[in-house]
Amino acid sequence: MTITEDIKYIGVNDYKIDLFEGMYVVPEGMTYNSYVVMDDKIAVLDTVDEGFTKEWLANLQRILGKRKPDYLIVQHMEPDHSSNIMHLIEQFPEIILVASSKAFTMMGNYFGTDFKEKRIVVSDGDVLSLGKHKLTFLSALMVHWPEVMVTYDSTDRVLFSADSFGRFGADKEADWTQEAARYYFGIVGKYGIPVQKLLGKITELTIEKICPLHGPVLSENLEYYIKLYDIWSSYRPEKEGVLIAYTSVYGNTKEAALLLAKALRKRGCETVLVRDLARSDMSQVVAEAFRYSKLVLATTTYNTFLFPPMREFISWLTERNFSNRIVAFIENGSWMPTAAMHMKEQLKESKGIIFAKECVKIMSAIHEENSMQIEKLAEELSKELPEECKEIDIFEKK
Ligand code: FEO
Repeated sequence: MTITEDIKYIGVNDYKIDLFEGMYVVPEGMTYNSYVVMDDKIAVLDTVDEGFTKEWLANLQRILGKRKPDYLIVQHMEPDHSSNIMHLIEQFPEIILVASSKAFTMMGNYFGTDFKEKRIVVSDGDVLSLGKHKLTFLSALMVHWPEVMVTYDSTDRVLFSADSFGRFGADKEADWTQEAARYYFGIVGKYGIPVQKLLGKITELTIEKICPLHGPVLSENLEYYIKLYDIWSSYRPEKEGVLIAYTSVYGNTKEAALLLAKALRKRGCETVLVRDLARSDMSQVVAEAFRYSKLVLATTTYNTFLFPPMREFISWLTERNFSNRIVAFIENGSWMPTAAMHMKEQLKESKGIIFAKECVKIMSAIHEENSMQIEKLAEELSKELPEECKEIDIFEKK
């Protein structure tokens, strides 16, 4: 695939993978992206997952013809991108590796050598000239590992963005946002501050195309993608809406969740999502919790604590700095109604959370007082997000 006259795509599609990083479902597969810049000197940007050596080398060879690559630029050392470094060196022993100092340390860990004889160590702002193309390396520390850098080609105005702006799914025509959000909040979401730093650097650049390590090359509406990354990485809600995440053992908590959804819709709330945590993809619901402005957590006491999928869900959120939201609780405790207390406790380090005043407290099954609590909670949640919730700066104390 041609990105520009001199920049070619040589990545591969993985349709056999079931769980990316051993954890994330990827029903539409995964791409491992790799690129070549053809100039007086030739640079390859990143390799691909270990299952695709032959296909990737064949893609590269087709572009090279009789020429040989001069540089391998290693932006990220996670194995889905670095597994073929040794294979490339076997094929082209004279190739020079270009990477951050931390990446070379990781190469020592992975391959038993840090390539002292054939490497260029680059830092933030360093430039490599290929002839017509000048490649500027920008540190992207902790987006999503510490060795990461992105690369800007000022000649063609292309940003090679490493893990940022990537998404799950190998169908390049599919909608970007949903799978990009699931990818972002699952994999990069904890690192909002580093992503903000990277965005600060790239907003200075004129960018016509973004070439990430996963998913499609982005070449239109770049402001949209950059804006979404800005919202996501600053932990602000992307959209007004209520996510009701519940678990239910015998159906009573589910009934309360559905009654609340109905009461919210009756009051004109346009976006109300109801998700059973025991039956939903966790990464999908986590992404939704980060994208929408209000979250209702509904669960039962279990083993004197919380029903396990809810405990796990809140851990996913807090691990990823869940902040700046309105959160409400529905608890069901047939003989120990303490779930709301435990959920609140789990969220105690989260910044900018406004807890709803109304808490629905069910003792086994829904009674009249619960119906009233649900109506009151719906009333409270159907109000607009308060300004203080929109504006809170979760980074100020860090
Ligand atoms: Fe696709 Fe962080 O690697």
